[in-house]
Amino acid sequence: MAEPINVVVSGAAGQIAYSLLYQLAAGTVFGQEQPINLRLLDIPPMMGILKGVVMELEDLALPLLNDILPTADPEAAFKDAAAVFLLGAMPRKEGMERKDLLAANVKIFKVQGEALDKFAKKDVKIVVVGNPANTNALICSHYAPSIPKENFTAMTRLDQNRAQALLASHLGVEVSNVTNVVIWGNHSSTQYPSTAYAKVKTNNSSKPVSEVIDDENWLNTEFVERIQKRGAAVIAARTMSSAMSAAKAAGDHMRDWWIGTKPGEFVSMGVTSDGSYGIPKDIIFSLPVTIKNKKYEIVQGLFISSFAQSKLDITAKELEEERAEANAVLKQ
Ligand code: NAD
Ligand code: LMR
Repeated sequence: MAEPINVVVSGAAGQIAYSLLYQLAAGTVFGQEQPINLRLLDIPPMMGILKGVVMELEDLALPLLNDILPTADPEAAFKDAAAVFLLGAMPRKEGMERKDLLAANVKIFKVQGEALDKFAKKDVKIVVVGNPANTNALICSHYAPSIPKENFTAMTRLDQNRAQALLASHLGVEVSNVTNVVIWGNHSSTQYPSTAYAKVKTNNSSKPVSEVIDDENWLNTEFVERIQKRGAAVIAARTMSSAMSAAKAAGDHMRDWWIGTKPGEFVSMGVTSDGSYGIPKDIIFSLPVTIKNKKYEIVQGLFISSFAQSKLDITAKELEEERAEANAVLKQ
């Protein structure tokens, strides 16, 4: 058995954490050979609730869970952290866009970036889930200059999972038979979910979606809109934002980063743009990546149609605007 690693969950008393923590303790993210020390970060008023979460974790009686530390102190939480899930932030309510949370949430990510910089391992892997996730990840990275930028990612895996599930249901195939759907851009209603490179497995052969779909126009219209607005649809129905599916997606994101992607398959992650596909540098933009030995690489050379280009431009512009707004908030 390997030495335990320190895994941090911020917002540990919240909704998403409640579903995520079981996955971590059960070994579905870091594998059945990797024990973990859980570092549960939340704010002081939540320490009572967190105590109950700790009791439940203990009562799971799971062998991979080595040690649990509930805390409101970022230093204690991030010390020697190997993997970090940043969930702790305010969720939106019905009628809001995710960027409306920026003023409230961006300061949290500045403080956490500074603490990560001082206390975490330099190869720590960080996924930001708290909204607006891309811009929060950018700010967090900015305030942690000693940690490589590629170690900061934003979660768009929920959008990818939604897109895979919707496409599979439209085609009448199992969800595991759909791969390589790509989420481009911001985790917001400007994101561009694309099926241009998606593959569908039918009778042991893998075909492009365009060869198996009757109504191709649906892919550029209703499909895109439903994925862009899925988070809002969940809030309207549940009166709270997605949590179970968000936790599953966070686990998927980190598991693929830790363990690697399957041959021939790519996944979407918000990563620091290196200028690939003409996307402005130094914003956190969701891109297709492959992962090996805990390092991701942006998939290169995909064809971008003029329709797709116009969508990429819109979401990139929104991210540049969010970056400017975040910087203005932090200067106040
Ligand atoms: P929640 O309100 O249930 O939990 C948030 C928790 O964060 C609370 O316990 C709160 O006390 C804690 N918190 C607040 N400030 C903190 C700080 N400075 N340090 C540590 N903890 C802090 O919310 P939730 O439903 O778990 O959602 C969390 C965030 O994730 C929201 O911003 C939500 O919009 C976002 N989200 C993102 C995605 C995505 O796909 N990227 C999906 C779902 C939700
Ligand atoms: C989601 O996509 O479900 C989350 O980002 C929550 C939200 O505000 O939509």
